[in-house]
Amino acid sequence: MSKIFHALADAWVKRSARPDRAALAAVVDLRPATVITGASKGIGLELARRFAMKGDAVVLVARHPGPLTEAVTAIKAEGADRTALSIALDVTDPHAFEQIAASLRENGLYLDVLINNAAIGLGDAFVTQPPEAVDRLIALNVAALTRLTRLALPDMVARGRGGVINVASVGAYVPGPYQAAYYASKAYVISLTEAIAAEHSGSGVRIAVLAPGPVDTAFHAKMGAQNALYRWVLPSGNAAKVAAGTRRDFMLGRRVIVPGLFYLLSAAILRVVPHPISVPIMAWLLKPKGSDTAQKSSA
Ligand SMILES: NC(=O)c1ccc[n+]([C@@H]2O[C@H](COP(=O)([O-])OP(=O)(O)OC[C@H]3O[C@@H](n4cnc5c(N)ncnc54)[C@H](OP(=O)(O)O)[C@@H]3O)[C@@H](O)[C@H]2O)c1
Repeated sequence: MSKIFHALADAWVKRSARPDRAALAAVVDLRPATVITGASKGIGLELARRFAMKGDAVVLVARHPGPLTEAVTAIKAEGADRTALSIALDVTDPHAFEQIAASLRENGLYLDVLINNAAIGLGDAFVTQPPEAVDRLIALNVAALTRLTRLALPDMVARGRGGVINVASVGAYVPGPYQAAYYASKAYVISLTEAIAAEHSGSGVRIAVLAPGPVDTAFHAKMGAQNALYRWVLPSGNAAKVAAGTRRDFMLGRRVIVPGLFYLLSAAILRVVPHPISVPIMAWLLKPKGSDTAQKSSA
């Protein structure tokens, strides 16, 4: 049954694809790869694991080589058929795309699916954030994601296959006091991705945005929000489950992927509740507790 669904989804996704022969010939000797940014831990690592499990060659990107090497070793140990390699790189580097493309080619691969997952958060009141930290957040969550998507898409469209998954958050549907810049950056990611997905509808290229609710990773502690009320009262997802559902929905051609029924309903509600009601509730949920500040400064 699932094979029939996938065949139907595939036919729908490429209903008006016009693959360019020269573009296909240029990669005839190369193997398609799925590149995941921020893949040394958390959701990115689980996405890499899931795509590798399904037979994709995966390329893990993050800044620190140690955790990346460990992640690649772990993925390879999960099956003799797994192809995984890593690129230690800061994706905010203006030449990041060229470096990724060169590294893929050296390894007999080409960029087929790009997952823009790397992001940082900033907890606490906006005026307390160092301006350079806000700049870094925008450089990674907004600018790097946009540049990589812009540079990756033309070849995908020419080949009439492949795709992009941009990782946002269910929080993107409402302003988030005490995580203001982070929430705003994720609202941008949803808006950009849905718009581009509409532009390439039927082209054979899958373009999706992943918008999870809170997931248990080191992310919240790093931004000094581990003890905020939302960590206690809202259900937290599991990164492996999020990754499994994301790959399935991506292959089915879904454009907006919100894992879990609770957050699917939350996203629908957040879209209709007026901000004068929802934003104060978000402020109450997101306000960091005293101990968070200490955690953030030591992260
Ligand atoms: N966790 C949640 O509750 C949650 C909920 C909704 C959405 N999300 C989104 O899901 C994504 C992943 O979150 P996560 O919780 O898995 O985060 P995480 O555990 O903090 O992992 C972040 C990853 O990004 C990498 N990274 C950070 N800066 C980078 C840079 N400049 N260049 C390349 N790689 C970089 C990190 O490795 P290095 O430090 O070595 O570079 C790490 O591999 C993010 O987009 C986040 O906004 C998370």
